Amino acid sequence: MRLDKFICKSTNLTRAEAREVISSGRVQINGWYDCHEATQVHENNVITLDGVIQQARPSRYLMLHKPAGFVSSNVSGRYPSLFDNLATDNLSIANSAIADSNNLDLLDVENLHIAGRLDADTTGLVLITDDGRWSFNVISPKSECEKVYRVTLRDPITEDAIKQLVNGVLLRGREELTLPAKLTVVSEKEVLLTITEGKYHQVKRMFGAVRNKVVALHREQIGPLKLDVPLGQWRYLTEDEVGYFYEE
Ligand code: URA
Repeated sequence: MRLDKFICKSTNLTRAEAREVISSGRVQINGWYDCHEATQVHENNVITLDGVIQQARPSRYLMLHKPAGFVSSNVSGRYPSLFDNLATDNLSIANSAIADSNNLDLLDVENLHIAGRLDADTTGLVLITDDGRWSFNVISPKSECEKVYRVTLRDPITEDAIKQLVNGVLLRGREELTLPAKLTVVSEKEVLLTITEGKYHQVKRMFGAVRNKVVALHREQIGPLKLDVPLGQWRYLTEDEVGYFYEE
């Protein structure tokens, strides 16, 4: 992990403040001053700030049931950021009748990021963490981590469209087919689509490629992890659940 990240994870300093204490020579690694924010540090290094040994806080991993109307980004734009609402707890206040004790805490969102974004109008399972390697395992097509979407369509699904979607379709502006997908028909205008990639607007573009249109989209599952919190709420993942996305 980078030294500036380690300092953030072991103190309450922001990334900018961590860089400041590093560059001003207040940080030592194994007894040697190090002024480089990008230095890689390891578990067995002894790192001090102003002579006091620092321990990195354990990483955080949570699942959130994203409502429509929020952006999967750390900054608000046309829609509010999911993170603003985790920090101020508005999401769980909206559902306080069923909030559990986790949801009543205010979450320190510094350094958290989303492992696999959803569009503003998409609902469902979002994983949030401060562990970049773990989120890479969730997102990277190389990990072949399956994401299951419940898709509501404008037009009835056809046999031909199913075949194309399962085998791979050409998205506009791309030269290679989408990776093989699984598709289960729920009703003529509702399907479950399982994919291992997450290109920009991938599901909407896949159905566009077979001349249909997504009218509602909801992510139900990522790998073996199924969404099990009510709309607008979140919980920490268990150790076993975190382990789903860490190969030994
Ligand atoms: N595919 C989409 O088109 N949108 C999402 O939000 C997720 C996957």
